[in-house]
Amino acid sequence: MVGSVVDLGAGPLVTACPIDRPTVTLSTFAEVREAMRAKDLRQALYDDGALVMADCLLDLHGPEHRDRRRLENRLFRRETFEDYETNLLPRAIAEAVDPLAAVGRGDLVQIGYRAVMHLTALIAGIDVVPATADRLEYIVKVFSKGATAVHATGDRTELFAEVAAALAEFDELFFQPSAARRRQALADVAAGVISSNELPRDVLTTLLQNVDALDLPDEVMRREVSFYLQAGGHSTANALTHTLNELWSQGDPEFVELARRDPSVLQRCAHEALRLHPASPVAWRRSLAPVELRSGVEIAENVLVVLDIEAANREESLWGADSDQFDPYRVVPEGIHAWGLSFGAGTHACIGMELDGGVPAEPGDAVQLFGTVALLGSALLRAGAAPDPAEPPVIDPGSARLHYSRYPIVFEPRS
Ligand code: HEM
Repeated sequence: MVGSVVDLGAGPLVTACPIDRPTVTLSTFAEVREAMRAKDLRQALYDDGALVMADCLLDLHGPEHRDRRRLENRLFRRETFEDYETNLLPRAIAEAVDPLAAVGRGDLVQIGYRAVMHLTALIAGIDVVPATADRLEYIVKVFSKGATAVHATGDRTELFAEVAAALAEFDELFFQPSAARRRQALADVAAGVISSNELPRDVLTTLLQNVDALDLPDEVMRREVSFYLQAGGHSTANALTHTLNELWSQGDPEFVELARRDPSVLQRCAHEALRLHPASPVAWRRSLAPVELRSGVEIAENVLVVLDIEAANREESLWGADSDQFDPYRVVPEGIHAWGLSFGAGTHACIGMELDGGVPAEPGDAVQLFGTVALLGSALLRAGAAPDPAEPPVIDPGSARLHYSRYPIVFEPRS
């Protein structure tokens, strides 16, 4: 990825970059967070993933990003998540877990993807029925590989051809029919046939309503909804797998039992696993102008800035000498999230953070949101899920990131 690294002692790393640009690597928590908030540092991680990522929310900068984010934020209100957690998620989880629990085995990565796909499809505005769910899951996985092409270790030409074919299939099977239904619904509102309250509340409908104001061609809307599908699916499956893997790796059956009975314990585990294993261990930015950080680090214009989230999340001065260890009861310093910077910070901070991570209860709160990862994990533990002793988990060989491609589990009968 980045070229030969020159270590300048205590300062940032400067590398000779293969794309002919000098690189600065930031690894302290304070620097990474400040860089995420800096207005002259723009997104750069997805330049190689343009086939699926060009002009997506995560790839926009400045006023364009602000305007699109403002619109889409409306779909991510806490009341909406409460509704999802109470009414929708239990059904999505049951559909993903119950059939596998009935046959006694399954795969954690697959279950994570499947359970969350229905939820993200609903948020994105892509209509999916049981007969097309397998196909959508395949397509979303190809999009994920395409978005993170910069990390791919295999043949890139083959990867891009696979992504282009998946986009064409997505367009025909999912995007065009879903967009046609929503265009019709908007026409029905305009004609007074239905009220605007009856419109679907999803990203695609929101974009279609603002097509002229935001100058959105079909291909951009298609990439935006496909980005939502892959952003939610991949990162949730990754978080679920690491959460349960960490829990099971402690070798403490009593703690597993506690987590099984109390989702707030599993929520702590999820936050700690997210800290240790961010879905994206680095974020990349490009400097649009010279930037000086509070630490004194100077970044010249047009430099690639690598934000080492994994290192920042393990900084000993913040998390303690055991920062590499899994400790769901770790004391988190004031003003910092338990998951560190794994959901990002600043203008691009994850829009799905509360949906997946929940909101830890403050004293006096009537409702606690546990988040998709904790609730999925909880449902699996209640169904008796445990690692398959006959088949160890497999690390994804096609990615430089630490991702499980398979995590076989069995469902043990519970007394
Ligand atoms: C455990 C699960 C998740 C993790 C760890 C995660 C992580 C992240 C991170 C680190 C970013 C910022 C990247 C950067 O600054 O370069 C981000 C942005 C984003 N995430 Fe997530 N995410 C998760 C789940 C979700 C879900 C479920 C959704 C949608 C339903 C979602 C939608 C988005 C969107 C739309 C953005 C772009 C926000 C913007 O650019 O304004 N994410 N996510």
